Amino acid sequence: MAKLLILIPILFAFACQSKNADDAEKANKSQRDPHSFSEPSKAVVKHLDLDIKVNFVSKLISGKASWTIENPSKGDEIIFDSRNLQISKITLGDDEKETTFNLGDSDKFMGQALTVKIDEATSKVNIYYTNAADAAAVQWLSPQQTAGKKAPFMFTQSQAILARTWIPCQDSPGVRFTYNATVAVPKELLALMSAENPQEKSPDGIYQFKQPNAIPSYLMALAVGDLVFQAVDNRTGVYAEPVTLQKAAYELADMGKMTTAAEKIYGPYKWGRYDVLILPPSFPFGGMENPMLTFATPTIIAGDRSLVSLIAHELAHSWSGNLVTNANWNDFWLNEGFTTYFERRIVEDVYGKDEAKMQELLGYQGLQNLVTEMGTTNADTKLKANFEGRDPDEGVTDIAYEKGYAFIRTIENAVGREKFDVFLRGYFDSHAFNSITTEEFLTYLDDKLIKGDKALEEKIGIDAWVYQPGLPTNSPAVGSEKFKTLDSLINDWQKSNDVSVLNKKLSTNEALYLISRLPPNISLKQMADLDKTFKFTDSGNSEIQAAWYTLAVRMNYKPAYPNIETFLTEVGRRKFLMPLYKEMAKTAEGKQWARRIYAKARPNYHSVAYNSIDELLK
Ligand code: BES
Ligand code: ZN
Repeated sequence: MAKLLILIPILFAFACQSKNADDAEKANKSQRDPHSFSEPSKAVVKHLDLDIKVNFVSKLISGKASWTIENPSKGDEIIFDSRNLQISKITLGDDEKETTFNLGDSDKFMGQALTVKIDEATSKVNIYYTNAADAAAVQWLSPQQTAGKKAPFMFTQSQAILARTWIPCQDSPGVRFTYNATVAVPKELLALMSAENPQEKSPDGIYQFKQPNAIPSYLMALAVGDLVFQAVDNRTGVYAEPVTLQKAAYELADMGKMTTAAEKIYGPYKWGRYDVLILPPSFPFGGMENPMLTFATPTIIAGDRSLVSLIAHELAHSWSGNLVTNANWNDFWLNEGFTTYFERRIVEDVYGKDEAKMQELLGYQGLQNLVTEMGTTNADTKLKANFEGRDPDEGVTDIAYEKGYAFIRTIENAVGREKFDVFLRGYFDSHAFNSITTEEFLTYLDDKLIKGDKALEEKIGIDAWVYQPGLPTNSPAVGSEKFKTLDSLINDWQKSNDVSVLNKKLSTNEALYLISRLPPNISLKQMADLDKTFKFTDSGNSEIQAAWYTLAVRMNYKPAYPNIETFLTEVGRRKFLMPLYKEMAKTAEGKQWARRIYAKARPNYHSVAYNSIDELLK
C-alpha cells in the first residue's frame, strides 16, 4: 500500500509531463516551418553583424555574416539555410576560433542545410561566404537597363525564401533578429537597406546600416545604384534615380498623409522613418514592404497619383506583416489579407469611400475569376494553405490577398467597425514583433471578440472561410455607385452601338472596370472605337495597359501589338507579364510570338519573374 501511495504522485507527474510534451509537440508542429532547414527551438539567431562587399564586375556579394545566437538546448550544432553559397570558413566567438560545418543535400527551392558545430557556450558564429553570380534574390542591371542608362544597379528581393541566396540565415518568418551592416560598393553609387538609411552618397562607397527592431530574414534587403533622395515630409521621403526623382516625388506626395491615417487606425508607426525606393522597371513585384524602405516598381508612376494605393498597401505591412508576421508561408494570408484590408482603410481615409469601394469591387472580381479558374474545390483556394514541398511563391495569389480581405471584412461587418478596430489595435499591440499561426489568430479572435458567442461564430463562418476551398456564401456585398453609372453607359453603348454615349472622362478605376466588363464577343470595330475614344493602347497607366493588352491579345486586336511588345520588353512586373504571356500562349501563333518577345525580354527580368514564365512557355 505504501508503495502504491508513493507511486500515485509519480504516475501523476509522469502523465502531466507527457501531456506537456504533447502540447509542446503540437505547438512545435504548427510552428514548424516546412520551408526552412533551421531548427530554431534548438539554437536560434538574435542579431546579425553583416560585413559585405558588392562587386559589380563579378556580380558577387561576399563577406562575413556574424550571428549572435542563443542555444537554449545546449546542443552542439546550429542550422542555417543556404542556397548556392560558397562558405569558405566559419569561426566561433570574438576570438574567431575556427569550427567545422556541413552542407546537406541540395533541394531546388530550399537549398541546403548549413549545420555548424558549436558548443554550449557559443554566442557568436562568423560565416565567411560568397554568393553565386546567379543568386535568385539578386538582380544585376547594366546601365542600359536603368532609367538613367549611366550607372549599373543591383537589388535584392528576399521574400519568400530567397534571403538564403545572399546571406546564410535561419530563413524562416518565425525567426527575428536585429542587424547592423557595413556594405562596400563602388564610390559613385548609393547603397540602401531595410534599415536606417543614408540620404547622400558617401565619398568612399562604404555605408553603415542599423536595424534596431527585430525582423525576419525575408525583410533583409539591399539596393545599390545611382540614387538620390527627396523628402516628402519630416519622416517620409523618396529615393530614385535622378531622372525619375521629380516624377516619383510628385506621385508619392501623399505618403505622409497615409502614414498619419494608418496611425489613427492601428496605433503609432514603430519603425522611425518611412521611405520608398523607386526601382528600375525590372522589379518583379509592385511593391515590397522592406522595413523603413519600401521597394516599389516605377509602374505606379502614372502621373496622376491613381495607383498609389500600392504604397498604402506596403505601408500597411508596417503593422500587418512586419510587426505581426505569419509564422510560416502556409499562414501567408495573415500577412496579405490583413494588409489588403488595412490598405483599403487607409485609401478610404485619404481618398474617400468611393475610391475604396471601387478598389474593393475590382479586387473581388479578380478573386471570383481566380476561384472559377482554379476550381471551387481546389485545395489551394483555402486560406490556410499547404505549400510544403513546393515553392511558397505559388501562394502569391488573390486567395491570400482578396479572400483574406473578404474574410476580415466579414468579421468587421459581423461585429461592427468600432469594436473591430479596438480588437485589431489590441491584436497588433499584443503581438508586435512576433510571428503567429492561423490557429493562434483564431484563438485570439475567439478570446477577445467572439467570446464563445455561437450565433456570432456561425454568422462569420470561420471554418468555411479558413479551412474550406472556394468562396463562402456569406461573402460581403460589394458595390460602387460609380461603377453602376458606368454599367448603364456600357448598356446604352451596346444597344446603340454608338461609342459616343460612353464619352466621358474615365478615372483609372473606371477604365479598369470598363475593360473588365466588355462583352466577350466584342468586335474589332468596337475595340477600335474604344481605343480612339480612350487611347488605351497608348495609355501611360500600367494597370490600364496590362488589362487592355491582355484583352487585345485575346481579341487579336493588332493595332496594340507593337506597344505590347515594348511593354513586355521594358516592364518586369510579374503580375503584368503572366496574364499577357498566358493569353498569348493560348494559340500556336501567339505562343510563337510570345517566345520571340521573351527571348529578347528575359535578360531584363528578375528570377522571380522569369522562373514563372519559363514554366509557362516551355
Ligand atoms: N510582400 C508582397 C510581395 C511578395 C509576396 C513578394 C510574396 C514575394 C512573395 C507585397 O506586399 C505585395 O503584396 N505586393 C503587391 C502589391 C499589392 C498592392 C497587392 C504586388 O507586388 O503586386
Ligand atoms: Zn503585401
